[in-house]
Amino acid sequence: MSDKLNIAIDGPASSGKSTVAKIIAKDFNYIYTDTGAMYRSVTYLALKYQVDFTDEKALVDLIHRYPITFKQAEGGQLVFVDGQDVTMAIRLPEVTQHVSQIAALKAVRQELVKQQQSIAKAGGVVMDGRDIGTVVLPDAQVKIFLNASVEERAQRRYKENMEKGIACDFDELKEAIAKRDYYDSHRENSPLKQASDAIAIDTTGMSIDEVVLAIENIAKQKLN
Ligand code: DC
Repeated sequence: MSDKLNIAIDGPASSGKSTVAKIIAKDFNYIYTDTGAMYRSVTYLALKYQVDFTDEKALVDLIHRYPITFKQAEGGQLVFVDGQDVTMAIRLPEVTQHVSQIAALKAVRQELVKQQQSIAKAGGVVMDGRDIGTVVLPDAQVKIFLNASVEERAQRRYKENMEKGIACDFDELKEAIAKRDYYDSHRENSPLKQASDAIAIDTTGMSIDEVVLAIENIAKQKLN
């Protein structure tokens, strides 16, 4: 048994999952895994190679042919697909617009969940997504469900996009986030849902530091 915990952080788009997960992983010296980046990478590949979004077999073939890997760098985590840096490309609006459709497919989910479980096998992982506490790591020692109002989440994503130089309209962004949440929560396969044993944190009005502290305190209690 590993003496390191697995920490599952789920929640809707822009609830602050990846920001806090990265900090916690650094503080605990754990591996951070952004599972949304994996669904985004498959969407990027489908767009690049013009694979039909409903052709599950062809999409799974893409995952096998072009492996998704993460690399820790000075400025944060980089995402590679078949050795090519796609960190920026997978955040482009075209990918964001289509990713929920790809993430709803059972065969795609099965393949990526397998990879995610393999990453977490040895423990010491902070993994964020939509189904980590419910499906990917049902035995995770720490399960957190983050949420915030759609207004605040849209503001966060808007600011993030501006900082990255991605042009966008605030109202459109808010509508797209609400739409994506609805789609992610109502799909048949592994919908976004709080695990029954997850601790819910509403981050509306909370600073990043406050959220990090709250989760780290929960994790430290588990370690003691
Ligand atoms: O967290 P994100 O916005 O980068 O996620 C992109 C999409 O992937 C989102 O619409 C939901 C989906 N997703 C999922 O279905 N399951 C996960 N574990 C992670 C993300």
